[in-house]
Amino acid sequence: MEFMDALRARWACKLYDESLPVAEAEEETILEAARLAPTSFGLEHWRFVSVRDAGLRMKLFGACLAQEGVRSAPLVLVTLVRAARFYEPDGDFCRARSARFPGGHAVFRDDYRGYFSFLREAGRLEHWARAQSYLACANMMNAAASLGLDSCAIEGYDEAAVLSILAEALPGFQPEDWKVGIVCTVGHAGEPRRERIRAPLDELVTRL
Ligand SMILES: Cc1cc2nc3c(=O)[nH]c(=O)nc-3n(C[C@H](O)[C@H](O)[C@H](O)COP(=O)(O)O)c2cc1C
Repeated sequence: MEFMDALRARWACKLYDESLPVAEAEEETILEAARLAPTSFGLEHWRFVSVRDAGLRMKLFGACLAQEGVRSAPLVLVTLVRAARFYEPDGDFCRARSARFPGGHAVFRDDYRGYFSFLREAGRLEHWARAQSYLACANMMNAAASLGLDSCAIEGYDEAAVLSILAEALPGFQPEDWKVGIVCTVGHAGEPRRERIRAPLDELVTRL
């Protein structure tokens, strides 16, 4: 599907046909689209938890305010972002990530630490970390649309409950190390497509 066609095809699906699964190759494409999303300073401070297991999905349904879309989706993707303490310029996480960049950690640190201090002093580190997960989610949803799948971003969740479900399911998972960025459901719609309501471009755009 062409890029703009996929954007036009996507709509927020709130109920899925539970008899229609998402193929593994489709899941891979959606996760690859998430991986390719940009992150500030290239830190890739996230982790994508792809949930197919029916028992776990039911638990996530409870943690996502009993939204039918989460109950009925064959695939629920949870984007986690690292907690604020990981973003210290000289911390292990930033060192490991920046070792991959041209110039390594020394060059990265000179570039990054001023912005890190600005974020920390403004109390915005956590917001900065979470906000980026929405880019991954948009990539996931548009990739799903390009495959003829339906999806929805899910912001309505109880973070502590989601983290505790994942802690039970994932060996070694430390919930205090992570924040939930956003959740995304994927599947085949079990409801008629809703037409999207959009304001005209002229109302939204200011051209200077
Ligand atoms: C960041 C974000 C969070 C959302 N969270 C939820 C949610 O928790 N539950 C839900 O049913 N829809 C959720 N939606 C879907 C929106 O309600 C939907 O995208 C919006 O009404 C526009 O519809 P459209 O996507 O079909 O154009 C969310 C959308 C976005 C972008």
